[in-house]
Formats: sequence, structure tokens, C-alpha cells
Amino acid sequence: MTETRTAAVTGATGFLGSRLCDRLLEDGWDVRGLSRPTSDRGDLEGVDWHVGDLFDEGTLRELVDGADAVFHLAGIGLWSAGPETVWNVNRDGTERVLEACRETDAGRIVFTSTSGTRRPQGDDDFADETDVAEPIGAYQASKAEAEDLVDRYAETDGEAVTVHPTSIFGPGDEEFTAQLLAMGVEPTMPAHLPGGLSIVGISDVVDGLLAAYERGTSGEHYILGGENLTYNCAVSRIGNAVDGSPARIRVPATAIRAAGPVAEVVDAVADRRMFPFDRQMADLATQRLFYTSRKANEELGYEYRPLEAHLPEAMDWYRAEIR
Ligand SMILES: NC(=O)c1ccc[n+]([C@@H]2O[C@H](COP(=O)([O-])OP(=O)(O)OC[C@H]3O[C@@H](n4cnc5c(N)ncnc54)[C@H](OP(=O)(O)O)[C@@H]3O)[C@@H](O)[C@H]2O)c1
Repeated sequence: MTETRTAAVTGATGFLGSRLCDRLLEDGWDVRGLSRPTSDRGDLEGVDWHVGDLFDEGTLRELVDGADAVFHLAGIGLWSAGPETVWNVNRDGTERVLEACRETDAGRIVFTSTSGTRRPQGDDDFADETDVAEPIGAYQASKAEAEDLVDRYAETDGEAVTVHPTSIFGPGDEEFTAQLLAMGVEPTMPAHLPGGLSIVGISDVVDGLLAAYERGTSGEHYILGGENLTYNCAVSRIGNAVDGSPARIRVPATAIRAAGPVAEVVDAVADRRMFPFDRQMADLATQRLFYTSRKANEELGYEYRPLEAHLPEAMDWYRAEIR
């Protein structure tokens, strides 16, 4: 008989974390999850909840002590918080998790950063793990500093691997996924964005997190991406697959660059709210932010599936919860 393994998960109540917990439970792990008193735990059953936040030392120590794996996913974006909170949670919160692991008997850490700390350089079509970019905004900057802390931990204290998911698509995400689906299926959403991005299904990211734990090399970074698609292509494919009416007008890149926040331009064109980005981030929305997951494929056996494979469950959720 194999011994049951224990995973400690921060961000367990979030979009990605709850899906990871489901999968760990299915695979027979004992799962400890960090939950704030105010967190919505949804219908996750079987998780051993540790109530507190990233700054509650005692709770964190109990969470990670004796765990075979520590999946650190808790993080916050500029969607939902100001820059100060973003720094606090993403950088300082990561430091607290590392401290708790140092002071206890914790196993390998898998830290979830973002592909946003990398960007294609020069004329390159795709970015890989070596294409470290000058961070834009507090989210990328705080994640970049957290990555440095994790790398240092891997050099001197214990095992740690960093993964960089691209834009995650799946049920439960009221931001990116809901907006992309709206652009693909809603007749009232006539506009889509210029530029392009790497869209990865949530189940593929969960596979990648587990593979990073099992097979990643400590101190290394792995991009977990999906298909590289222009918005135009992504919304057409969604529209075709679900019989929707894909947005036909592309918001002009020049208008986005001139106006800054994409929200303002799209409000005017489509009477809908869209990405609350600042000026630099708006500029990013006009670029093709494409990524290669070759390293994760070769070293972890990571594979991703096409957008259509992830659509049915995302659409079921969208129809039930959003529209
Ligand atoms: N979604 C994407 O496309 C994407 C792409 C690349 C990387 N990532 C990264 O993946 C991770 C998970 O993202 P997600 O989309 O699942 O985000 P999410 O749904 O917003 O979940 C964030 C999680 O972090 C927790 N959290 C926030 N502040 C905390 C604090 N002070 N103490 C303890 N927990 C706290 C939240 O708890 P509550 O439930 O209490 O709010 C929630 O469980 C993040 O680190 C994110 O940066 C996401």
C-alpha cells in the first residue's frame, strides 16, 4: 500500500486553487487548504481547512508542517485590489509562506507566478522562461520579486519550483473567461481586442502543477501555456463552436494606445465594461503575447489541449452563472 500524501494549498478557495484541490482529492491526497474567514469555500468537500490569511504565522506553520507538497497559489491582481494590497499579498505573502516552510518540516513548494513576468523579446514570436521582461504594473512587479524569493529559497533552504500559467480559461472565472466568452457568443458584445494571447484550459494548468511537483527540477521555472491565438481567432472559434455571434469590430490599437484604459474605449464602442487596465497594460492588450511551453513539455511531460476541448464546461458554467 502506498502512503497517502499531504498537500498544503494556499489560494485554495480561488478559481485555480479550488480546481487543484478537487483534483488532489480525486487522486487520493490529504488536502489542507488555507481559507480566510471571509472566503467562499464553494462546494469543496474533504479539504481540511486552516482558517487565517497569509499573514497569520501560526496558521501558515500548521498548514505547511509535514506536508509533502506546498502549492502556493494565493495571489491577487489589479482586477480586485489596489497596488499596495497587490504588493502585500503577492510579494510579502510569498515571503511568509517561505518563512513558514523554513521553520517547519515542509516538502517541495510549487509557486504559481504568471507568464506576465516574461515577454517575447525583439522580433521573437514567442517568449520562453529566459525572456525575463521589465515588469509592467504592481502585479507583474510583485510576482517578479516573489519569484526571486522562491529562487533563493531553492538555492539555500529547500525544494521549490515556479510555474508561469498564461491566461487561464475555465468555469468559475468571472473576469477573463467570462469576457472572452461574451466576445464569442453575445450579440451585445460587438467589439473584441487587437493583439493576441496564450489561452490555457484550467484542467491543463492543474496537470502542469502536479507535473511540476512530480518532475520539475528545483529552482527551475516552467511556462504552462496553451494555444497562442489572436483575440479575433479566439472569439471566432468560440462563436463557431457554440453557435454564437462573435464580435466583429476590432477595437483599433491606435484608439487603445491613445485612450489608455481599454475600458474607456470599449465602453464607448460596445457599451460594455472590459479590462480595467492602465495605460501601459492597455498597450499590452494590443500586442501578441505568445508563449512556448516547450520546456514544460520536454521536462514535465506537460501537454495542453485546444480551446474547444475546454469550451463545454466553461459554457455550461457561463450559461448557469453569468447569463
Ligand atoms: N487566472 C489566471 O488567468 C492566472 C494566470 C496566471 C497566474 N495566475 C496566478 O494563479 C494564482 C491563482 O489565481 P486565481 O485566478 O485562482 O485567483 P483567484 O480566483 O482570485 O484566487 C486567489 C486566491 O488567493 C486568496 N488570497 C488572496 N489574498 C489572500 C490573503 N491575504 N491571504 C490568504 N489568501 C488570500 C483568495 O482567497 P479568498 O477566496 O478569500 O479571496 C483566493 O483563494 C494567483 O497567484 C494568480 O496570480 C492566475
